[in-house]
Amino acid sequence: MKFLHVVGARPNFMKVAPVLAQLRKDPRVRQVLVHTGQHYDPKMSDVFFQDLGMPAPDAHLGAGSGSHAQQTAKIMVEVEPVILRENPDVVVVAGDVNSTLAVALVAAKLGVAVAHIEAGLRSWDWRMPEEVNRVLTDRISELLFTPSRDADENLAKEGIDRGRVHFVGNVMIDSLHAALPRARESRVHEQLGVRKGEYALATLHRPSNVDEPAALERLLVALAEVSGRIPVVFPIHPRTRSRLDGDPSLRAKAEGARGLRLVEPIGYLDFLALTANARLVMTDSGGIQEETTALGVPCLTVRHNTERPVTVEVGTNTLVGTDPAQVVPAAVAVLEGRGKKGRVPDLWDGRAAERIARILVRSCEERGR
Ligand code: UD1
Repeated sequence: MKFLHVVGARPNFMKVAPVLAQLRKDPRVRQVLVHTGQHYDPKMSDVFFQDLGMPAPDAHLGAGSGSHAQQTAKIMVEVEPVILRENPDVVVVAGDVNSTLAVALVAAKLGVAVAHIEAGLRSWDWRMPEEVNRVLTDRISELLFTPSRDADENLAKEGIDRGRVHFVGNVMIDSLHAALPRARESRVHEQLGVRKGEYALATLHRPSNVDEPAALERLLVALAEVSGRIPVVFPIHPRTRSRLDGDPSLRAKAEGARGLRLVEPIGYLDFLALTANARLVMTDSGGIQEETTALGVPCLTVRHNTERPVTVEVGTNTLVGTDPAQVVPAAVAVLEGRGKKGRVPDLWDGRAAERIARILVRSCEERGR
């Protein structure tokens, strides 16, 4: 049996690595890894292959950046001959990035079964490109692997047959468990000049937060206020970097804030080390909401919604919106020890890839391969 796995953007790598590793143990299985090239900077891609111990991709599509239409179309055109040539039993896609939907669409139209890792998440906000990607990918997937029970309910409401939906837990947490011992050896704190437990960690990259100068400015004001109380390490995503570089006054605001440490994007192990030892994390990332919940670190999500409600209902995450008048008091509360306590959601146990691999293999066996 043959599986074709797809990675493209930074949040894909930690979801795919554990599944590849698990399936590699089965001698009946052959695997092909395709990198779409949606993310291409070494700090957005190569470092994750090293940190996660992933094999080099068998095919690289070199899609690169562009408008949504350009990027999605380029990936579709480039991946079609690869799927035809490899003729896999199942194409496995993960998450909600443009690469996920582009490859799922091509596979479905070629009549190849699609399996979606991290299915069923919904923000109910159609302005998010990821929401479009999630809903459409789920609709054309034959196997839907969900990280939490709320995702199962969302899929049921959309009329997706429950027999195709498998609650397997959060596979990204498999990567986290596997990497923690090595992350503990990271020297990133010394390199950045911060002490464990005595800094906050911030990331911003959602188009709704960084593409509009006024929106980005509000969040920089909030980060600057927090950084007056505690050093804030702020690794800058390329999207955010290009907005700052294109706006000298915003850039000056960011660079002038006392205690705000602007740094390049950080690799998986170092970022995990920074997250695990932060007093507080402020982010608009989906994955970081989950990682903080798994690690028991307080997280303030600077968004008005989340497709990962279990991190709020069960975990350490709080939705604080984007107004400094809300964000800063919430941060102060955490720093003063009034942060939220949480627990780890069901099946975020480091064994999701085992469950996914078992179901993938069984689905091939049932189809007589
Ligand atoms: C993408 C995903 C988003 C995910 C994020 C994680 C979509 C629609 N969005 O957003 O869900 O949370 O990745 O990082 O798929 N760029 C570089 N180097 C790179 C990649 C991008 O400089 O290696 C710059 C380019 O200027 C590019 C911009 O970043 O135009 C945005 O990249 P893109 O892949 O379009 O979306 P992200 O914002 O990274």
